[in-house]
Amino acid sequence: MSNGIEQREQWGSRMGFIFAAAGSAVGLGNIWKFPYMVGANGGGAFVVIYLAIVFTIGVSVMLAEFAIGRNAGLNAVGSFKKIKGGAWPLVGWMGVIAGFLILSFYGVVAGWTLAYMVKSFTGLIAIAAEGKAGDAFGAFVSNPTQVILWQAIFMLMTIWIVYKGIGSGIEQYCKWMMPGLFLILLILIVRSVTLEGAGKGLEFYLKPDFSKVHGGVFLAALGQGFFSLSLGMGCMITYGSYLSKKEVLPSAAVTVSFLDTCVAFLAGLVIFPAVFAFGVEPGAGPGLTFITLPSVFAKMPGGMIWSALFFFLLFLAAITSAISLLEVCVAYFKDELGWSRPKATWILGLVIFLLGVPSALSLGGHIPQVAGKDFLDAVDFVSSNVLLPLGGIFISLFVGWVWLDGAEKEITNNGTIPFGFMTAWVWICRIVAPVAIAYIFFSGLKW
Ligand code: TRP
Repeated sequence: MSNGIEQREQWGSRMGFIFAAAGSAVGLGNIWKFPYMVGANGGGAFVVIYLAIVFTIGVSVMLAEFAIGRNAGLNAVGSFKKIKGGAWPLVGWMGVIAGFLILSFYGVVAGWTLAYMVKSFTGLIAIAAEGKAGDAFGAFVSNPTQVILWQAIFMLMTIWIVYKGIGSGIEQYCKWMMPGLFLILLILIVRSVTLEGAGKGLEFYLKPDFSKVHGGVFLAALGQGFFSLSLGMGCMITYGSYLSKKEVLPSAAVTVSFLDTCVAFLAGLVIFPAVFAFGVEPGAGPGLTFITLPSVFAKMPGGMIWSALFFFLLFLAAITSAISLLEVCVAYFKDELGWSRPKATWILGLVIFLLGVPSALSLGGHIPQVAGKDFLDAVDFVSSNVLLPLGGIFISLFVGWVWLDGAEKEITNNGTIPFGFMTAWVWICRIVAPVAIAYIFFSGLKW
């Protein structure tokens, strides 16, 4: 607008905001990482630990981010500047950098999900039926044109949605993509648990095995919870900045965390019953998703359809997260440097795409390794194991010690709504969260 006092964009409805924030949280992390971690770390015992961590530390840090963002009504850097200044905006800065880095490799893997959706109909299943899903995946990720093309397509879609803005872009798309994701998940669960022999998978997934629970398991649960809830980089600060002053923050944080945890848990009900029903060895991470599962689909009647549906599910989860990562960067350039949304979206989207190219090429060995890690894993390590935990520690300390009065007012909408867990929340932010996250940080520093 010409007078320079442009009205800041806002979410159109509470539901729209919840879907957008849950869309950010529900991502690749939920579907390929959580189920495997449960299976490998004590089944039901891990689920209980994860729930305890998410609904204490996770929800608290998310609430802290919402409060900071809504109070300032600005991007991650601007929010800290406006509320306190000093060195605090550096926390937002780390977040913006983490946004660039995470989206650069996230876009690569998300591109694979699109490719596999199409490949489901064009020969993937036949190849997998011959037991060659592993070779096919290897050939795909070492084909530079293919991986970069799919990465580019995915990034273009991400840019398009963010370019359309908060209400008519992110909110509109998340409002149908998130229910779509739930629907597909339910269809796939029904298919999977009704397979003959599904029970063995359920047992692997959920049977509590306390002998596997040791210190490392708490660590794994905390790290996973943090990444899964999109915490530590100002994503929820940015999304919170578009919230109306009337919204109730604590219930929003609980709802978003609950939805995220549901999807993670339900993904395991799709994967393990099917894997065990066909007697395939479950792998981990990308291997489980792109090699084990196509082999499983190949053994099912109508395998092509199930495979395409599953990769569509992954794609939906990935894109609603990718837009939140891009929005963190766009909001910063818009608020702080005065760029227009279209300019910020296209330029930053392009930069992030280019930044992702080395990651895209790294799995085929086209890029030298960085100190023994593939480029993609190295970028993942720096952002997830260094920047996010540091961000989380400082965000908790900030609300717990530096800006407590303001945060309390923000959370209670200026004292007009009660919040029964205030004391617990304050001490989690002051002590429990920083100490717990510092612990993950130092143990996670092993390259
Ligand atoms: N939470 C997403 C997932 O589970 C990824 C993600 C999106 C994220 N935005 C984030 C992670 C911000 C950390 C910070 O895949």
